[in-house]
Amino acid sequence: MVRLYDRVILPRLLNCAMSQTHMSKVRAHIVPEVAGDIVEIGFGSGLNLSHLGQQVRSVTAVDPSEGLHKLAAPRIKASHAQVIHMQTSAEALPCESSSFDAALCTWSLCTIPDPSSALTELRRVLKPRGIFAFIEHGASPDAGVRRWQDRINPLWNKIAGGCNLNRMPDAMIRESGFKIKRMDADYIPGPKIATYTFRGIAQKA
Ligand SMILES: C[S@@+](CC[C@H](N)C(=O)[O-])C[C@H]1O[C@@H](n2cnc3c(N)ncnc32)[C@H](O)[C@@H]1O
Repeated sequence: MVRLYDRVILPRLLNCAMSQTHMSKVRAHIVPEVAGDIVEIGFGSGLNLSHLGQQVRSVTAVDPSEGLHKLAAPRIKASHAQVIHMQTSAEALPCESSSFDAALCTWSLCTIPDPSSALTELRRVLKPRGIFAFIEHGASPDAGVRRWQDRINPLWNKIAGGCNLNRMPDAMIRESGFKIKRMDADYIPGPKIATYTFRGIAQKA
């Protein structure tokens, strides 16, 4: 039953949840900033592909979920960019150091089991002047909301595929050797516990 939920039901739920129009609007502000050969960790069902500009040549798409990769197939087919799928974890990227012009991660640092290792790997494979574009939800600055995030997190984590409500993506990005060049952080539509959203551009510090 757990396997069926994780392999079949959860990928469909995630694809549906991540396809909301207001999330697409947030993607449209950040994703077009990347160019050249890019690496995306937590590729999911490929929802960023339609926001990539013509300046993107290839996407190395890293995600361990087979179910989400299957759901990404039509978007991969429709993309102008070459998509190289890697069904693996972002914590150990099978890629050369300094090999990508840009990196992308959207709504995934909440779920990746060891986000610090994933960010350290991302930094390793990024070229010295490459940019890292991110959109992440995380800990709210409002004490009341934060208390609920901490309370609900253990249950949420189980039903939402390992997602955490109370991580601090901006701090994790900085602590992994990036300098945040610009960032907006506020609530997007939806329940406050899951919608305090950090989006911005970082570079190697
Ligand atoms: C909430 S979904 C976001 C998907 C996509 N980035 C988007 O914006 O629609 C989180 C993603 O993180 C992926 N993920 C979980 N553990 C991972 C890991 N260790 N390495 C890379 N991706 C991982 C999941 O499979 C899932 O696709």
